[in-house]
Amino acid sequence: MATVVVIQGSPSSPSKTAAVVRVAEQMLRSGGVDTHRIDVRDLSPQALATADAAHVGIQAAVRRVLESDAVVVATPVYKAAYTGLLKLFLDLLPPRALEGKVVLPITTGGSPAHLLALDYALKPVLAALGAKVFVSSVYVLDASIELGAPSPLQGADRERLDRSVEELRQVLNPQQAAILG
Ligand SMILES: Cc1cc2nc3c(=O)[nH]c(=O)nc-3n(C[C@H](O)[C@H](O)[C@H](O)COP(=O)(O)O)c2cc1C
Repeated sequence: MATVVVIQGSPSSPSKTAAVVRVAEQMLRSGGVDTHRIDVRDLSPQALATADAAHVGIQAAVRRVLESDAVVVATPVYKAAYTGLLKLFLDLLPPRALEGKVVLPITTGGSPAHLLALDYALKPVLAALGAKVFVSSVYVLDASIELGAPSPLQGADRERLDRSVEELRQVLNPQQAAILG
């Protein structure tokens, strides 16, 4: 079974980014894909702040990434880029950690003006880690995410997420996707 690791980089709880990620994970699992979440805020703050790659919790998380077939990288926009918390974890990955993996970037933000943060800030970092295959990125405005609702995403936002997750599933499981239609 294909495995997707979700790296979730919001420092907040509850988190709108995490809410979007949960929808994506449900879709992937119901499509026969195994998912594993890394909420960076739950890793050791000391290990992250001191770039301690030898820390046991960091090593386990890094191993998860290396062993995955695909990676969802999810972050709120902070100051027109990704969060510092996400970067602390990405800095601990080996140089070509994302080589050969499909990547789905997901961002949430307060303003449509920062939609391009995905392209000018996040994607170059992922490319530097070896990512070459991206499925369509998802950007969701925070005002469109209803925390605590059974379905936190509605309408066009939900459709966009569904399309990108389906794209990812098809890249991972082309034969199964053809059978299920
Ligand atoms: C410190 C901070 C900086 C932010 N900077 C931006 C920004 O530059 N552009 C933007 O569109 N939204 C910005 N936002 C809004 C968040 O990206 C948005 O509310 C996001 O959905 C929060 O996700 P979370 O609940 O998962 O943390 C900022 C929020 C915070 C707390």
